[in-house]
Amino acid sequence: MTEPLLIADSLIAGYVPGVNILNGCNLDLAEGELVGIVGPNGAGKSTLLKAMFGLVNVREGAVRLRGEDITGLKAHSLVSKGIGYVPQNNNVFPSLTIEENLEMGTYLEPKKFSGRFDVVGEMFPRLVERREQKAGSLSGGERQMLAMGRALMMDPSVLFLDEPSAGLSPLLQDEVFVRCKQINSAGVSIVMVEQNASRCLQICDRGYVLDQGRNAYTGSGRELLTDPKVIELYLGTLAKSHTD
Ligand SMILES: Nc1ncnc2c1ncn2[C@@H]1O[C@H](COP(=O)(O)OP(=O)(O)O)[C@@H](O)[C@H]1O
Ligand SMILES: [Mg+2]
Repeated sequence: MTEPLLIADSLIAGYVPGVNILNGCNLDLAEGELVGIVGPNGAGKSTLLKAMFGLVNVREGAVRLRGEDITGLKAHSLVSKGIGYVPQNNNVFPSLTIEENLEMGTYLEPKKFSGRFDVVGEMFPRLVERREQKAGSLSGGERQMLAMGRALMMDPSVLFLDEPSAGLSPLLQDEVFVRCKQINSAGVSIVMVEQNASRCLQICDRGYVLDQGRNAYTGSGRELLTDPKVIELYLGTLAKSHTD
C-alpha cells in the first residue's frame, strides 16, 4: 500500500511551554481526498492545522508529505512544497486590491502570476471583475473567496482551510462548500476545519472528530453523520450549544 499524501503522526504540540494542546493527534490525507475536522470549540482543530503548517511548535510526532519528513518546516518552504493554508481570520490584506492580494499568493515565484491568475480567475470570476477593488471593502463571503484564491495561486496539491464558512450567511456558506468541492474535484487534496460540522461531513470523504487535542472519532463523512454517539456528543442540539 502506498503511503497517503500527507500524514500527521501522533502530534504533540502547544503554544506555552509545558502545556500541550495536541495530545497525540493523527490525521492522514490520501491523494484527491477531502477530509473534514470537526469538534467543539477549543478542541485543537486550528492548532492541528497550524502544527502541520509549521506555525506551532511540534514537540513529538511527525508530519510527512509524500513520505518526506516536513515536521517544523517554515510556512514558505511548505508553500514551495505544494501546501496552501487559509487561516480563519486576517486572511486577506485589506489595504491591497484583489489583484495585489493574488499577487502576494505568488510572491515566492512571481513568474507564476499571470498563468495562475487566469486559472484562479476562471474559478472565481467575481475576483477578476473586481480586481481593482480593495480587499478591505469586500463582504465576508468575497473575502473568503479571495483568501482561497490567493492560496490557490501557487497551484498547491494540498490545501488547509480553517473554518471557511464561519461568519457567513447560510447562502454564502453553501457557496463556500460548493467551491471547496470544486477545488477538490480539480485535483487539490483538502483538509478542512469546520464549525458547521454536519454540512462539512456531508461533503467530505472522511472526517475526524477532535476533542481535547485527541482523535475522538474517525470515519467516512456518512459514518460520522449517522453515528449515534457522534450525533449525541457533537452534532445534536446539546452539542450545538457546546460548539457555538
Ligand atoms: N496563540 C495561542 N497561545 C496560547 N494558547 C492558544 C493559542 N491559540 C489557541 N490556544 C489554545 O489552544 C486550545 C485549542 O485552540 P484551537 O486550536 O484554536 O481550538 P479550535 O480551533 O478547535 O477551536 C485552546 O485552549 C486555546 O485557548
Ligand atoms: Mg479554530
